[in-house]
Amino acid sequence: MSHSPAARRVPDALSRRRPTWLEIDLDALAANFRVLSEAAGGRPLWCVVKAEAYSHGAMACSRTLERAGAAGLVVALPEEGMALRRGGIRLPILLSGPLPAGGADPLLEHDITPALSRTEDLRRLEDAAARRGARASFHLEVDSGMTRMGLPPHRVDAFMQAAAGCTHCHLEAVFSHLASVHEPGDEAARRQLECFSDTVRHVRKLAGRDVPSHLASSPALCAFPQAACDMARPGLLLYGVSPAPTLNPPAGLAPVLSLRASLVLIQEVPAGVRVGYGGTWTSPADTCLGVISLGYADGLWRDCAGQAEAILDGKRVPYVGAVNMDLAQIDLGVGRHAQPGDVVTIIGCHGGEAITLEELATRTGRTVYEWLTNLGGRVPRLTYRSGRLDHVWTPIGSLSMEC
Ligand SMILES: Cc1ncc(COP(=O)(O)O)c(C=O)c1O
Repeated sequence: MSHSPAARRVPDALSRRRPTWLEIDLDALAANFRVLSEAAGGRPLWCVVKAEAYSHGAMACSRTLERAGAAGLVVALPEEGMALRRGGIRLPILLSGPLPAGGADPLLEHDITPALSRTEDLRRLEDAAARRGARASFHLEVDSGMTRMGLPPHRVDAFMQAAAGCTHCHLEAVFSHLASVHEPGDEAARRQLECFSDTVRHVRKLAGRDVPSHLASSPALCAFPQAACDMARPGLLLYGVSPAPTLNPPAGLAPVLSLRASLVLIQEVPAGVRVGYGGTWTSPADTCLGVISLGYADGLWRDCAGQAEAILDGKRVPYVGAVNMDLAQIDLGVGRHAQPGDVVTIIGCHGGEAITLEELATRTGRTVYEWLTNLGGRVPRLTYRSGRLDHVWTPIGSLSMEC
């Protein structure tokens, strides 16, 4: 990232926090938004900010996306949408997940638009809106092959008939979600696309008007330009990460997030020493080990050792021994002259070397989505905007020594 600190020492802003941090570059997020707008042919983008904007911080990212010109935001939980409203976000917010168990009232109170796929939920929304004398919009999710939350196409007639009888609910858009896009031209995705466009045509006929449609999440934006429909719904690509090695993202995207930690302890060990829980690694020669304050409770998967590397001073260094809940060990080798306080880059660039989420996902047999959303709430976030440090926070808010 262009605006990060030199990644040579722990930023002063963390002097009373753990020496481990995520750098979030909001300028990169805004630039990625512009790249994706262009890739979607200028169509409106509904930006997916669920799961704390894939660990980047939902509030800061939503503000950035609002300023950048997003058409709306997508969350998975009612609570996520409500938190954005409390933070002052005014954009339309689509709840892609289920309605709250107690009914639709909290959504109406916070002006959150639900995605509906069942007539029972449509009735719950209609009842809640009627009680308040309000008008509620919703997006209809149809199942084109994901077999998850969408309305099966053979039930569209019954749903649309029920919708026609509603006086307080308004069908704002129709959408679907692709189950798999492994490569450009993926056959299953192509079948879903066909099913979706047939269903949209049918919904429009029944509604007697041109209901807007959306389908394209990140993989579809990479592989199927025709999936852009009337608007697109990207998450991952906004954060500058590619969904799969077989897909080519639009050119010009940059990662928004870097993860760094400083060495908290260094020790020399002779050859033949068993290291860490279970002694899963034995030093093959005299070497020097460094400890960082980052573990699997923070999203550094336990089996990174033996599979993944970090960067110290522009050079790659391997994790050794099993990663612990809060700590990990790195083999620094001999003659390196590292010192406690030196910064290790776990995800990101330093000195011409780069470790990407795509590499970590491939090496550990996980998806980039799992890597991102598992980056834990104990890790302080440093948010940069307009090239300057804008905000320091830890998602688990009680984890600060500053009060
Ligand atoms: C309904 C829906 N739309 C859009 C997205 C965004 O997907 P991506 O992050 O691949 O762009 C998701 C992600 O899970 C989703 O569930």
